[in-house]
Amino acid sequence: MNSQRLSPALGVEIVGFDAREPSDDDFGQIHEYLVEGAGVLVLRDQTLEPEQHIAFSRRFGDLFGEAEPLQNTVTRYLHPDHPQIFRVSNKNADGQPLGRSRAGNYWHSDVSFRLRPASVSLLYAIELPRIGGDTLFCSTTLAYDSLSKEMRFFLDRLEARHDFAINTQVGFSHEQIETDDLAGQNAAIHPVVRRHPDSGRKGLFVNPGNTSHILGLHEGESRMLLAFLYKRCTQPEFIYRHSWRPHDLVIWDNRCTMHYAIVDYDADRYLHRTTVIGERPIPAISTD
Ligand code: OGA
Ligand code: MN
Repeated sequence: MNSQRLSPALGVEIVGFDAREPSDDDFGQIHEYLVEGAGVLVLRDQTLEPEQHIAFSRRFGDLFGEAEPLQNTVTRYLHPDHPQIFRVSNKNADGQPLGRSRAGNYWHSDVSFRLRPASVSLLYAIELPRIGGDTLFCSTTLAYDSLSKEMRFFLDRLEARHDFAINTQVGFSHEQIETDDLAGQNAAIHPVVRRHPDSGRKGLFVNPGNTSHILGLHEGESRMLLAFLYKRCTQPEFIYRHSWRPHDLVIWDNRCTMHYAIVDYDADRYLHRTTVIGERPIPAISTD
């Protein structure tokens, strides 16, 4: 295995690793590289059938679509034969165009609207446009660390509501989400600052894709503070821009990063994503 940093902020690239049958040692090393890459790991040259992609993903934990359904959010993006696989594409499973793909075309952390949000997501590139279709990743840990001590003290004590309904306003086009999808379990309250269980580091955990407001503040205060935090998180110094190559498997940790799918292409783009169910976010400070 050869590793290389991809940007000063985040991202490590690995060449010479096969996700189809990693030993326990190899998997342990992958896990370490993910922490070293501050939550973004690029595994080049993978050949993954859906079953192999799912098997590798399970090593990180229980999967959405398996241990807990994700169908009630984005039914039409699910793989017809594998409910664990989320089809990230501008075409549906029958090859019919869905129009411009809007999936992920806004800053977000996957499934943050659930009580137990996603820990890592694993996205495998099958079909890519010749140019365009990059994905941006930002480090919410670096963003948190860049704030003043007084601001961190204030944020450490706050909670925010995450609600999938917000998603319909900022990202997905409305017709792609059925009314039912919005009923039920797709809302949760989380700490604004969460501690990462592996690195022990604190990071901001609010995102424009799913966060509706910060609890206890006036509406205008919440809006202003969230806008400030989003701006800080997505500062260019805290970003890695991934230009996809066929057979890339990119693993990101939703607990310390956000990502953004750039929709600047007209050709077809098709990727498979699996999503691991994480822990309930650990607050920055213990609340007793
Ligand atoms: C996702 C996502 C980004 C992309 O799969 O969760 O946001 O660039 N995708 O497709
Ligand atoms: Mn996403």
